[in-house]
Amino acid sequence: MDFKSEDMLHLRYRPTNLDELIGNKPVKDVIKGCIKSRKLIKLFLFSGMPGSGKTSLARITGRTINCQNLKPGEYIACGKCDSCQYTVEHHPDVIEMNMSENGGKEEVLKVISHSKYNARYNFKVIILDEIQGASAAAKQALLKPTEEPSPRTVWIMCTTAPETVPPALLSRSSVHNLQYPDVDNVARHLLKISKKEFNPKVISGLKGYYVRIAKTSNCQIRQSLILLENVAKALEGMPKSKAGDVIREQISNLGNLQPLVMKFLLQLYTNKIPEALSVIGTIENNKVAEFISLVCSYSHYASIYIANRGLNKSVGRGFRDVSREIWESHLDKQFISKKYLIPLRVSKASINATEKLRRGLIAINQVLLTLIYDFVEG
Ligand SMILES: Nc1ncnc2c1ncn2[C@@H]1O[C@H](COP(=O)(O)OP(=O)(O)OP(=O)(O)O)[C@@H](O)[C@H]1O
Ligand SMILES: [Mg+2]
Ligand SMILES: [Zn+2]
Repeated sequence: MDFKSEDMLHLRYRPTNLDELIGNKPVKDVIKGCIKSRKLIKLFLFSGMPGSGKTSLARITGRTINCQNLKPGEYIACGKCDSCQYTVEHHPDVIEMNMSENGGKEEVLKVISHSKYNARYNFKVIILDEIQGASAAAKQALLKPTEEPSPRTVWIMCTTAPETVPPALLSRSSVHNLQYPDVDNVARHLLKISKKEFNPKVISGLKGYYVRIAKTSNCQIRQSLILLENVAKALEGMPKSKAGDVIREQISNLGNLQPLVMKFLLQLYTNKIPEALSVIGTIENNKVAEFISLVCSYSHYASIYIANRGLNKSVGRGFRDVSREIWESHLDKQFISKKYLIPLRVSKASINATEKLRRGLIAINQVLLTLIYDFVEG
């Protein structure tokens, strides 16, 4: 029997131009404006949750501004010229570095020297992906060249953790926070791809489930395409009457953790501790590690969100609201012993409000972690 292998859907359907990239109108408007006016911003930072399209957008930008056939006022690369023929890996002017793999100073210095060569086409585009993974020395080395970039060089940094980017770099970047599209847009995308990819039987089995798949994936397109692909595979050769069951099984097998994590954190942050812990009780043993890792990453974002809100009002109050809400509720309910509160003790005198906030947020995440580990082990 012959088997064929092919890339997964989310890789084959990576957007290649601004119209294919769903949602994110604000950042697309800025980039369209740059391209149409032929006046480029030299330093971008694309931040956002995993799978929100940062790397795709960086590549689209690099490809578009190097297209040889772009007429004034246009913003879609032709796909045919010499430059458009190259993939990112082989394009002579677009250099993409994954800083979480190659984030040392040496590597960055190499890119910096490369950025000074003339572009073969229009612009050198340096994509520093996952910049949170760069070493401190590497980030330091980037300060100078990005402050006064060569005239025909564009720097694009991508990260899920903009708070790890040095303030000096952040403050001169054109910063854009990419968002997951809304449910309807994701569902429509899934339908469109399904029509191209699957046979009529699978499509008819999927009918009515696209919104559910999008929601289960928290509107993250990559996740939703992975789930769609699993569902479609499982539907192959099944009688139509089984479609509903098959889809429900796949959803509960794969995608059920994210809503649970959200529910858990929401209850935790609103003082409903027993309810939060009962969520953990519903998780299969083999999913606990994944659950913990998701809780850590989500609580990290939740902390940043809360921190931003706190900072917008007043730093001191933000810190007090968050920390009091979470730790006092534990104390009241005698749920965790005083040992958890040691890291929470923030000395009132001698440190400034920002530092208090920072320590408070770290402490909250420590409590979250300890709480979960204790529950799981006990
Ligand atoms: N806005 C979007 N429109 C269309 N497809 C998208 C969009 N965002 C993400 N995708 C899909 O998700 C895949 C992953 O996107 P991408 O690699 O650009 O995300 P990312 O933000 O760089 O993720 P990570 O943080 O994991 O590096 C793409 O290949 C594409 O299939
Ligand atoms: Mg990426
Ligand atoms: Zn072209």
